[in-house]
Amino acid sequence: MHVLMTGGTGFVGRRLAERLAAAGHTLSVVSRDPEAAARVLPSATAIRSRVLDFRDAGVEAIVNLAGEPIADKRWSAAQKRRLVDSRVTITRELVTLCRSADTPPRVMVSGSAMGYYGAQGERVVDEDTPPHDEFAHRLCAEWEAAAREAESTGVRVALLRTGLVLDAGGGTLAKMLPPFRLGLGGRFGDGRQFMPWIHREDHVRSIEFLLARDDLDGPFNASAPHPVTNAEFTRTLAQRLHRPALLPVPGRLLELALGEMARLLLTGADMRPRRLLDAGFRFDYETLDAALAAILSRGKRRD
Ligand SMILES: NC(=O)c1ccc[n+]([C@@H]2O[C@H](COP(=O)([O-])OP(=O)(O)OC[C@H]3O[C@@H](n4cnc5c(N)ncnc54)[C@H](OP(=O)(O)O)[C@@H]3O)[C@@H](O)[C@H]2O)c1
Repeated sequence: MHVLMTGGTGFVGRRLAERLAAAGHTLSVVSRDPEAAARVLPSATAIRSRVLDFRDAGVEAIVNLAGEPIADKRWSAAQKRRLVDSRVTITRELVTLCRSADTPPRVMVSGSAMGYYGAQGERVVDEDTPPHDEFAHRLCAEWEAAAREAESTGVRVALLRTGLVLDAGGGTLAKMLPPFRLGLGGRFGDGRQFMPWIHREDHVRSIEFLLARDDLDGPFNASAPHPVTNAEFTRTLAQRLHRPALLPVPGRLLELALGEMARLLLTGADMRPRRLLDAGFRFDYETLDAALAAILSRGKRRD
């Protein structure tokens, strides 16, 4: 299958690209910096800087992951615009490619996030739960709506409402491990907010699953069946590292330091992957402890 990816150089995209190339698929990637992308992608990958460069390339499937990182900068009005535009603009270009290709791709698996639901307190959340209206929700809703435009060309669209993606060498754990290794970890605020998470291998497997299953479309919560609260996450990571985690970070301090972006750390949703489980997807890493054990032991073997 010929797969076109955006965000192929990212934390998730790089691993997906490796797996797709190893499985014998033809891979094309859109990147803002094709030279840098060539250094991290499988050698046979075709890399261009614009989506429409692949208009006549016979693309059969699309995986759309590109976007400005959500937690790198304070959410000023300009940064919020960048977070939305960096996702919606490239998604619209993909829809244009679908409209103008002689034979449209069969499927587009497109990014979204647990932020779609906004702050949900302790309620159990599945794909039918009404969202809480806030910036993260509006960002994801615009991104999803842009992707769903491809449906009018006959393309099957599956949306990934992704939890925190965990693995060595990037993502959330790259930020959390240094303080926790020093014994300086601690919960955020009262620690009762949920942190849905997914091992990166399960996440890329879920993308492959959605690419392959012609009967599946619409939103899918991409997170392990056993989400944890921030307090449980903190405790489990500290135990795995054999370090104390006794220094809670007060919510008020996070709000002062990060502004509205503190909501990423202080609110969440008890999100469950109901539609993936109903469709028969099986997670290799169901519990946080099992995922962290695998990730940290791999890290150790590499040291
Ligand atoms: N990782 C997580 O925990 C997580 C959780 C929920 C949702 N997600 C979503 O899933 C997607 C993939 O996650 P990831 O962790 O692999 O992301 P990532 O490592 O931040 O990579 C995303 C890619 O998007 C491109 N990009 C970055 N800034 C951009 C900008 N301003 N304009 C256009 N393109 C830009 C980059 O590709 P080039 O430099 O090659 O152009 C980058 O490699 C993201 O959209 C993210 O929002 C991730």
